[in-house]
Amino acid sequence: PLVSMTDMLNKALEGKYAVGQFNINNLEWTQGILAAAEEEKSPVILGVSEGAARHMSGFYTVVKMVEGLIHDMKITVPVAIHLDHGSSFDKCKEAIDAGFTSVMIDGSHHPIDENIEMTKKVVEYAHAKGVSVEAEVGTVGGQEDDVIGGIQYADLQECVRIVNESGIDTLAPALGSVHGPYHGEPNLGFKEMEEIRNEVKLPLVLHGGTGIPTHDIQKAISLGTSKINVNTENQISFTKKVREVLAAKPNEYDPRKYIVPGRDEIKATVVGKIREFGSSNKA
Ligand code: G3H
Ligand code: ZN
Repeated sequence: PLVSMTDMLNKALEGKYAVGQFNINNLEWTQGILAAAEEEKSPVILGVSEGAARHMSGFYTVVKMVEGLIHDMKITVPVAIHLDHGSSFDKCKEAIDAGFTSVMIDGSHHPIDENIEMTKKVVEYAHAKGVSVEAEVGTVGGQEDDVIGGIQYADLQECVRIVNESGIDTLAPALGSVHGPYHGEPNLGFKEMEEIRNEVKLPLVLHGGTGIPTHDIQKAISLGTSKINVNTENQISFTKKVREVLAAKPNEYDPRKYIVPGRDEIKATVVGKIREFGSSNKA
């Protein structure tokens, strides 16, 4: 069933595992992720960037597609539809009005007072409708759709302030992670994560989950990370497979013949992540 992130993340924090956010782009992407979550009996968060929502014609189409799949695929695990890196109150409101069960308001590129102010406004609107809210402090490196940034570590006092003043459900403190592949090993700020953990009792979010080694994933979870976002890894596995199939069968023209193998790769990738994050059998 469709739910907000609140319950799944609080349980994850308590149980010392993380729920994966996997970004979707289309029907097959969503099928692959839902199939993986159902097979693993894991809660799951479907991340939708503003660009991906535009690609799918809009928030309303996304919600109806996900609802349709939950019904037709007989999905029983908790599923959240979450706006990823929402850029404004208006975009968050649009997503919530269309039926999203969760939103991220990413005010991280604004001065902290503005970030808090826009986050607070989103929380007021969202909570009245049972929708959960994620905010970000500091900046994640790399590029994702319209979001481009250099790495900037989250400031502890700013984290404490945004939690206390806005009433968010979960916080993404940027601590050296990057959107897209890492060049070399990631260098995550675990010392800072621990300091934030000691002051902020909410579940924390780790963006840029692609390419983070298992020992870092485990360390982050042990320090209160309860949600890990993965996007690029599914894009890579899907596209690699589709390329292989098209190269091996140059006369193939039935789209299902090359999209379904890509979808199966997404499913396998997500099953691997769910096991690594420890959320199997937590639905
Ligand atoms: O918000 C989505 C993510 O942070 C995904 O990052 O593409 O590096 O896996 P990634
Ligand atoms: Zn992100």
